[in-house]
Amino acid sequence: MPGLGTLFPVVRGAILLAILLLIGVAVATRLARAHVEPGSGRAAQIGGWHARLPGLGAWFLLMLSLARGALQLLTFVEPGEPLESGLIQAVLLEGTWGTSWTLQTVAALVLLAGSWLVRWRPGATWYLLVTTTAVVAWAQTGMGHPTEEIWPPFTGRVVDLLHLGGAGIWLGTLAILSLTTFPVLRRAARIDELAGVVCAFSIPARTGAALLVASGVIATWQYVGSLGALFSTTYGLLVVGKVGLFVLIAAAGWWNWRILTPALAAATPDAPVRLRRAITIELAMAAVVLGLTAVLTGSSFPGTP
Ligand code: HEM
Repeated sequence: MPGLGTLFPVVRGAILLAILLLIGVAVATRLARAHVEPGSGRAAQIGGWHARLPGLGAWFLLMLSLARGALQLLTFVEPGEPLESGLIQAVLLEGTWGTSWTLQTVAALVLLAGSWLVRWRPGATWYLLVTTTAVVAWAQTGMGHPTEEIWPPFTGRVVDLLHLGGAGIWLGTLAILSLTTFPVLRRAARIDELAGVVCAFSIPARTGAALLVASGVIATWQYVGSLGALFSTTYGLLVVGKVGLFVLIAAAGWWNWRILTPALAAATPDAPVRLRRAITIELAMAAVVLGLTAVLTGSSFPGTP
C-alpha cells in the first residue's frame, strides 16, 4: 500500500526512541537519587519527573506499537480488501514477529497500568520499569534482522539487545538527565550536585558506548560481510554514516567528561552553560543516528545469503 514505506521507518524510529528513553529513565533515577540531597525541593521535583515518565513512556510506546501492528497488517492486504480474523491472528499473534509484537504491546500495557497503580511507591515503579523495559527491548529484537537465519539461534537477538541497551544507558540516560535533572540543578545553582551527577554519569556513558561499539561491529560484520559492501551498498553506507556520527558524539562525550566535568567540579561559573550547549549538540547528533537506524533496520542487508 502506498505511503507505508514512509510510515514504517517513522513509527520504528519513534519506538526505538521510546525504548532508549525508558532505559534512560531507569538509569537517571538511580543517578539523581544518589547525588541530589534527599528530602530537598530539588529531589522532589526531579523525583516527580522520574515517577511520571515511565507511565508517559508506556503510553507513547503502546500507541506506537498499535500503529506498528496496523501497518504490518496493511502490508498483507490490497486497498479496500477486508481484514480477515485469520490474517490478524497469523500476523499479530503467531511467528516470531507476531509473538514479539504481542509481548511488546502487553509489556507496554503492564507498565502503563502498573506505573499508575504503584505511583505512590517510587521503588516499586523503578523495579516495574526495569523488568517491563527489559521485556520490551527483548521483544524489539524479535521484529527485525536479528531473527534472520544468518545468525546462530538467539545470537542476533542477544547482540541486538546489547546494542539497544548500550544506546539506552548512554544516550537515553543523557536525554533524560538533560530533561529532568540538569535544568533543576542549574536553576537552583547547585553546581556541586550537577558536577556529582555528571561525574557519575560517565560510568554508564562509557559502558554504553563500549557495548554499542562491540555489538555494532559484530552486527555490521554479520550483515555487511565485506569492506566492499560497506562502501558500495545503501545498507553499508548507512552504517558508515552511523559510525561517522558515533565518532562525533563520542568526541563530544569525551569533551564533556575530560574538559567540562572538571570545570564543573571546580565551580567555574560558565561551565553549566557550556555543558548544556555540548549536550544539546550530542543529543541532536544522536537523533540523526536514530533516524538513520530506523531506515537501516528496514533495509535489506548485503550479506543476505
Ligand atoms: C550513537 C551511536 C549508536 C546508536 C544510538 C545506535 C542505535 C541503534 C539502534 C537503536 C538500533 C536498532 C536496534 C533494533 O532495532 O532492535 C541499531 C541497529 C544497528 N546498529 Fe547501531 N547505534 C549506534 C552506533 C552504531 C555503530 C558504531 C555501529 C557499527 C559499528 C552500529 C551498527 C548497527 C547495526 C549493523 C545495526 C543493525 C541494523 C539492522 O537491524 O539491520 N550502530 N543501532
